[in-house]
Amino acid sequence: MNTVKKSGVGQAIDRVEGHLKVTGKAKYASEFPVENKVYAQGINSTIAKGEIVSIDTSEAEKLDGVLKVITYKNAEKLKTFDKEMTAIGTDSIAPVLQSNKVNYYGEYVGLVVAETFEQAQYAARLVKFEYKKDPSAVIKFEESRSKAYTPDNGSNYSRGDMQKGLSEADVVVEQTYNTPIEHHHPMELHAIIASWENGKVMAYASQQMVDDATIAISSTFQIPKKDVRVVSAFVGGGFGSKLNLERHAIMAVMAAKMVGRPVQVTVTRTQMFTNTGMRQQNEQKMRIGAKNDGMLTALSHETLSHTSTNMEYQEPCGMVSKMLYKVPHNEVTYKLIPMNIQTPFAMRAPGEATGSFALESAMDEMAWKLKMDPIDFRIKNDTQTDLHENRPFSSRLLVECLRIGADKFGWKDRKMEPGTNKKGNWLIGYGVSAASRNSPYQRTYSKVILDLEDDGKVHATIQMDGTDIGTGSYTIIAQTASEYLKIPVEQVSVELGDSNFPVTPGSGGSWGAASYCNGARAACENAVKGLKDNRNIPQDENVALAELLKRNQIKTFEAEGMAEPSKEFEEYSVFSFGANFCEVWVDKDTGMYRIKRMVNVGSAGKILNPKTAYGQIIGGLTMGAGMVIAEKTQVEPNFGNFITRSFADYHVPVNLDLANIDVVFLPEEDKIANKMGIKGIGELGITSVAASIANAIFNATGKRMRDLPITPEKLIEAEVEEGVAIS
Ligand code: MOS
Repeated sequence: MNTVKKSGVGQAIDRVEGHLKVTGKAKYASEFPVENKVYAQGINSTIAKGEIVSIDTSEAEKLDGVLKVITYKNAEKLKTFDKEMTAIGTDSIAPVLQSNKVNYYGEYVGLVVAETFEQAQYAARLVKFEYKKDPSAVIKFEESRSKAYTPDNGSNYSRGDMQKGLSEADVVVEQTYNTPIEHHHPMELHAIIASWENGKVMAYASQQMVDDATIAISSTFQIPKKDVRVVSAFVGGGFGSKLNLERHAIMAVMAAKMVGRPVQVTVTRTQMFTNTGMRQQNEQKMRIGAKNDGMLTALSHETLSHTSTNMEYQEPCGMVSKMLYKVPHNEVTYKLIPMNIQTPFAMRAPGEATGSFALESAMDEMAWKLKMDPIDFRIKNDTQTDLHENRPFSSRLLVECLRIGADKFGWKDRKMEPGTNKKGNWLIGYGVSAASRNSPYQRTYSKVILDLEDDGKVHATIQMDGTDIGTGSYTIIAQTASEYLKIPVEQVSVELGDSNFPVTPGSGGSWGAASYCNGARAACENAVKGLKDNRNIPQDENVALAELLKRNQIKTFEAEGMAEPSKEFEEYSVFSFGANFCEVWVDKDTGMYRIKRMVNVGSAGKILNPKTAYGQIIGGLTMGAGMVIAEKTQVEPNFGNFITRSFADYHVPVNLDLANIDVVFLPEEDKIANKMGIKGIGELGITSVAASIANAIFNATGKRMRDLPITPEKLIEAEVEEGVAIS
């Protein structure tokens, strides 16, 4: 059938849910028409550390429509954190409003429930808190270095002997790179509508991982998991911020219990700075040693960042430095300063996005010192073995990404000497960087329901609790069903994001596509197999699905499937790879610069749908460019609040900033990764983008910009690097 070819795996079809989205029919968490619903507004602390000494709720309670003011005084006592759940755990409990202690500015200290959103918002401002401030609040990163500790999570790593490696080097680069706090800010605000009925919880919530959200509610409120239902049918972006069930959700569930009505909490854009996670500030010290011929001898990556005083999170910035290059002597360390700022959390490519800025900038610095082309330098140090895990990569086409990208980009026209490519007032620079991102894949269950319609066609419905966070999950799952059932995609429906459906790992860490599609594949294969077995039809006999149902004399048939990593998968390191190329034009008098064009080449296994995959990469490149151009969350140095609290202060790139992007996927199927040959793509796109831009800026100006974001002001004030002859 022709139509199958047009809609199966690998075809650039339009999003199957696109029409629902552009016509407003796709329902996001706060859009479900839940009857009898009331609204709640969280109240945030106005000190960074201390205690609440008194609360006056009288004024708020007098207002029309106000149903309840909840603070630690009347909140339900919830299960507290388990020790082992205080780290990165995405299935943790999330208690809130449990004591009078304040750990950071903006922490939730109360919730007002009212008949309308406006009443709740207004009343929230009338609740008066008096605090006893603790002057020992830690809010200045720079001045708190002495408080840094080494996290006890086994993430420090070394192989070989770093000192020996450095002593063997002819050339050493030793530099520190800084990245600021950044925020995810998905377009859809975090939101939940929670209700209780007969001891059971129903929640429409904007979450990346439905099963974990269900577990979080059940363990926090100590009710059986089967009594919790979470629906996240459509999610308007997450970028890591919606991995965990955050505290607003727990407050909504608690409030719904207390007022006996469904409660909606929408986290405001400003609250999304203080209450839904962020990427932390990192100071990364790199030391690289190399022989004159370009062989690396040593590489060390030391990260200093911060966590909160009440929880621990650590971004694995040094991950890239352990595995990307063939370097015998290697060291990766971490230190964290506990600060009175909210706990940082995973933001798109946690580790790689920031770690590769440091590594790939330092690699560029080394190439410059060696007078080697930065692509040749990287290729020289390529490895097909993951030296960190001491096992082969399932596939690694990094060299191909670099070579093909160089060709596509026109790298041969690059001038080695900075400042020598000019056009009027513009200094033109080319930059390159290499990217790698772990490509996990996790156990996924799925169900397929086949219905033989009156017109003789089979309609398939795929169900799983996986989510589509804007990435295209609906579409690629439909394509998978089309492929394995041999029916057109128009005859496939995909139902996602409901905890009543089979369990998946959810969307995160670039595991969604491989997990969901292999899960759907398994269900579809089981359906076909089951139908054949029932009638003793040989498995290799080609029988159309409709015919199979007819021969079984049934109109409907269901099958479940499960996919999980193979033994072979565990014996290899499975990563996606990529290369970023960038051309910048810098105004030599003002430091204003433009990203003129970018080329990204990715090797990420089977590309399920080039259209949605492009979207993923373009989104990643945009976030990567944002790291360089503007993104920075500024902490107010006296009180610990964030100065940036809306898109007016926290700037993100716009279309004009990224006018010219070329994305190439290398044809690849990684059958070690999984049966369908899929690898992750959602985080690859952001990885090392910042370095490619900073490296291009160096090539244009001779200035090494090691602190993000690179503002025109910083750029114009920076000194030209030693050894660069700028005419
Ligand atoms: Mo991602 S930071 O695991 O959503």
